[in-house]
Amino acid sequence: MIKLKTIVTSALPYVNNVPHLGTVVCIISADVYARYLRLKNENVVFVCGTDEHGTTAEVKAIEEGLTPKQLVDKYFKIHKELYRWFNCEFDCFGRTSSKDNHEITIDIFEKLDKNGFIAENVVEQFYCEKCKKFLADRFVEGTCQKCGYEDARGDQCEKCGALLNLNELKNPKCRICGSKPVIKETNHLFIDLPKIEPELKKWVKNSNKNWSDNAVQLTDAWFKEGLKQRCITRDLEWGIKVPKKGFEKKVFYSWFDAPIGYIGITKECKKDWHKLWHSKDTRLVQFMGKDNIPFHTILFPSFLIGARDDYILVNDLSVNEYLNYETGKFSKSRGEGIFCDDAVETGIKADVYRYYILINRPEKADSAFTWEDFQQKINNELVANLGNLVNRTIVFINRFYDRKVPKGKPELNPEKEYADIEKLLDKIQLKDALKSIMAVSKLGNQYFQEKEPWKTKDGNALFVLANLVKDLAILIEPFLPDTSRLIFRQLNIKPLKWDDLGKSSIKAGHKINKPELLFNKLEDKQVKEFKERFKGKQESKEFLLDLKAAKILEVKDHPDADKLYVLQIDLGREKRQIVAGIRKDYKKEELIGKNIVVVTNLEPAKLRGELSDGMLLAGGDKDRNVLVEAPKSNPGEQVIPGKIKINSKKISFDDFLKVKLVVKNKKVLADNSVLKTDEEEISCDVKDGSRVG
Ligand code: 2FM
Ligand code: ZN
Repeated sequence: MIKLKTIVTSALPYVNNVPHLGTVVCIISADVYARYLRLKNENVVFVCGTDEHGTTAEVKAIEEGLTPKQLVDKYFKIHKELYRWFNCEFDCFGRTSSKDNHEITIDIFEKLDKNGFIAENVVEQFYCEKCKKFLADRFVEGTCQKCGYEDARGDQCEKCGALLNLNELKNPKCRICGSKPVIKETNHLFIDLPKIEPELKKWVKNSNKNWSDNAVQLTDAWFKEGLKQRCITRDLEWGIKVPKKGFEKKVFYSWFDAPIGYIGITKECKKDWHKLWHSKDTRLVQFMGKDNIPFHTILFPSFLIGARDDYILVNDLSVNEYLNYETGKFSKSRGEGIFCDDAVETGIKADVYRYYILINRPEKADSAFTWEDFQQKINNELVANLGNLVNRTIVFINRFYDRKVPKGKPELNPEKEYADIEKLLDKIQLKDALKSIMAVSKLGNQYFQEKEPWKTKDGNALFVLANLVKDLAILIEPFLPDTSRLIFRQLNIKPLKWDDLGKSSIKAGHKINKPELLFNKLEDKQVKEFKERFKGKQESKEFLLDLKAAKILEVKDHPDADKLYVLQIDLGREKRQIVAGIRKDYKKEELIGKNIVVVTNLEPAKLRGELSDGMLLAGGDKDRNVLVEAPKSNPGEQVIPGKIKINSKKISFDDFLKVKLVVKNKKVLADNSVLKTDEEEISCDVKDGSRVG
C-alpha cells in the first residue's frame, strides 16, 4: 500500500521585520497539525520559510543602510531562531530568495508563457527622472486625496486604508531622492486569469476540499466579480529577474514567487521534492492569515494549473483571523505589543505562549492578546487545571508509594472524549481540540476530588490517574511539546504515540521520577510590569490642539444666524467670545455655568460678523450635538491626551481637521489616548465612534 504523504505549509512571513505574536498564530497552528500527524505516524513534511522579495524588503534595506541581501540574511536568521524558540518543528525552513526558488519560479513562468497564459500590457506608472527608474508601489509617497494623510504610499493609504490610483496621490515624491516623479508608460506582464478561470472553477467545484468558511466565501466573491488579469512584474532591483526580452529591468511581483516558494523551499531540503509535489498520494494542507486567501485559492492554483505540469493543488486550507495586542495593533516602531524577541525576554515559557495563542486562536473573528486575559488563562487553566492534576498525581505516588505506581484497574474510560478530540484535530479545529483536552484534564481533577487519595491513599485511583496523565502527555504534545516531554520525564517513560491513548501503558510497580512544576503562576506584579514595558513609547509628537477647560458665562443669540449662539467664556486668565452652532441642541439657560472644552489656538475668525476666538468641542450623534464637558476642571486648565507636548501656536481650521477626536466608552480620545485634565477624563455622552469637532 502506498502511504499518503501530507505537505503542511504555513504562510511564509515577510522577512523584513521581527515577527510579533500575531505573526506566529499561523505558524504555530501549522506546527500543531504537523505534530499531530507525526504523532499518528503519518508521513508529513512541514514547510515554512521567509518571504524575502518585494518593495518592503528593498525599502527597509535602504532604511537600515544595508543591501537587500544583507537585510534578508539578517532577518532570516532572526525568524529562524525565534520560531525554534517557539518549538516549531519544521521539516523544511527555507527562503523565497534561494537558488531553488529562482529556478522553479522561472520554470513555472516559462510554462505559463508557453501555454499562453501570460499577457503583456502597457500601464502608467510613476517614474523618477533623477533616479532613472520606475517607482514600484512603496517607492512613492504623497498625500492621500481621500483623507489628507501626508505619508500615504504609492499604492495604499495606511491611515484610511484606501487603495490609491496614480492620480489619487497628491504631491507625489520619490522615496529615494525626494524629487517629484512623472507619470510614464511602461510594459508589464500579467497572468491571464480570465483564460484560466474555467479550469480553476472546475477544480474549486469538483475537488474534495476542507476549506474554512472565510476561504470559501472570499473565493466565491472573487468568482462572482469575475477574474481579471493581474500584474506579476515590478520595477525593482531585488527579486527574481523576469527572463523575457524587453523585461530585463523588471522582477517578479513577490506574490508570484512567494507561493511558488513552498515548492522551492521543499526542493531546498528534500531530494524527493518533485515526487512530493506531483504525486496523487500527497495531500496539501495550507495555513494562512485571512488576507492571504485569494493568493492561495485563486492565484497560486492558477499558476500551477496554467503551467500544465501536474503539480498538486491545495486540499485543506485553514485560515486564521488576526490576533491584535490589547486595544490596538502591534507596532515595532512604537514599541507597542509583544514581539517574539520580547516574548523570549519575559522569561515565560514558549509553551505558555503557545497555549494562549491556540486557546484564543482567532478562527472566526479577530482576537486580542491582553495581559489580564493571559494571566487568567495561565493561572486558572494551565496552573490550576493541567499543572495541578499532573503535579498532585506525581506527588502522591512519590509520597505514599515510594515512587512506584500502585496496582490498579482502569476505571475512567475517556474513549469517547479521545475520539472527539481526534475528530476535531482531523478537521483542523485546533482551538476546540485544545479545549476538549483541557476538559479531560478537568475530568481527572474531579476524579481526584472524588477519590481523595491524599486521605485515602487510594492506590487504584493513583494507578488510573498515572495513566490519565500519560494520556494527557500524548494529547497535549502537538500543542505544548515541552510540557509533554516534561510529563513523560516525570512519569519516567519514553514519549508515546497517539495509538497508546487509553492503554494502561504505565504498569504497577513502574518507578516514576520526582515531581517538577509544569507552569508558574503569573503574578499581578509581573502583569503590571509587562503591561508598562510593552505599552509603547508615547509618541512625543506634538499634539496640535491647545485644549482648555472653560466656563460659559453668557449666552446670546447670534443677531444674523438662527443656528448660532454667541458665548462669553472664562478661560481662567482671560475671557473670550466664541460662536457655536448648538442653538437647536441647548437652551441658553442650560448652557450658562457649564464647564466645557475649547480649542484655544484656532486662528480667530468672524462668523457672520461676530468674532469667534476659539471653538467648543461637541460630539455628533445623528442629528444632535452633545457638548464635551469638563465639570470638575477649573477654567483655563489644560486638556491633553496622555503625556504629549502641546502646541500653543495658532493653527488654521484645516490643521484642526487633521486631528481626529473620537468617542469611545463615552470618553473623548485623540490618537488612542483619553483627553484629560488633572481632575478628570473628558467625556461626551454620544455613541462609540462618533467624531468630535
Ligand atoms: O502576508 C504575508 O505575510 C506573506 N508574506 C505571505 C506569503 S505566503 C506565501 F505565499 F508565500
Ligand atoms: Zn528619485
